[in-house]
Amino acid sequence: MDVHNVEMVMSAVSPSQYPEDGRPEFALVGRSNVGKSSLTNTLINRKNFARTSSQPGKTQTLNFYSVEDEMYFVDVPGYGYAKVSKKKREEFGQMIETYISTRKQLRGVISLVDARHKPSEEDVMMYQWLDYYNIPILLVATKADKIARGKLNQSESIIKKAVGFDSANSDFCFFSSITKSGKDTVWNWIEERM
Ligand code: GTP
Ligand code: MG
Repeated sequence: MDVHNVEMVMSAVSPSQYPEDGRPEFALVGRSNVGKSSLTNTLINRKNFARTSSQPGKTQTLNFYSVEDEMYFVDVPGYGYAKVSKKKREEFGQMIETYISTRKQLRGVISLVDARHKPSEEDVMMYQWLDYYNIPILLVATKADKIARGKLNQSESIIKKAVGFDSANSDFCFFSSITKSGKDTVWNWIEERM
């Protein structure tokens, strides 16, 4: 999609605040600092529309970005950030679980993992939970600019094996917000599900 018009329409913590126009939605999930907000910015051709930070824990609400008045990206707080209090983490967990398990217009989830590392226990739990609910998943290995080309295949197999990749319900791609590689693949995946 060629994006010209983006608007942050809602910063929601509970279902009563979700947009009500029924447009398709795509959520981004992943560890804090993995690059969810950066991926959002790349998709919508903006530098820092979804606020990014080298400090993890930046995004703390469900942020609905309206794209071309056709669909929403939902930037979700990252999991696995130790400095967020236990109570806060439980609140985030509940908020994300409620949204993902009840939202009818959610057409798919983009689940981000770091291409350089074996997925964490929480990455695996998130993936398997989405798979269990039969939500279409695009598993994105991000920061791909940080690994050598020759290591991409190996990284892909490590990641897929760790999460128990289910090709019936999921697709996989590499992504970099620095080189923009993977941007078209991600957009194609989204557009096929709109
Ligand atoms: P939270 O909002 O805390 O959950 O983090 P987030 O997942 O939204 O991460 P964010 O997009 O803010 O990126 C975190 C850091 O990683 C920033 O310093 C980004 O510049 C960096 N980063 C994100 N994507 C990439 C990438 O593809 N390549 C490289 N090299 N750095 C990246
Ligand atoms: Mg963020």
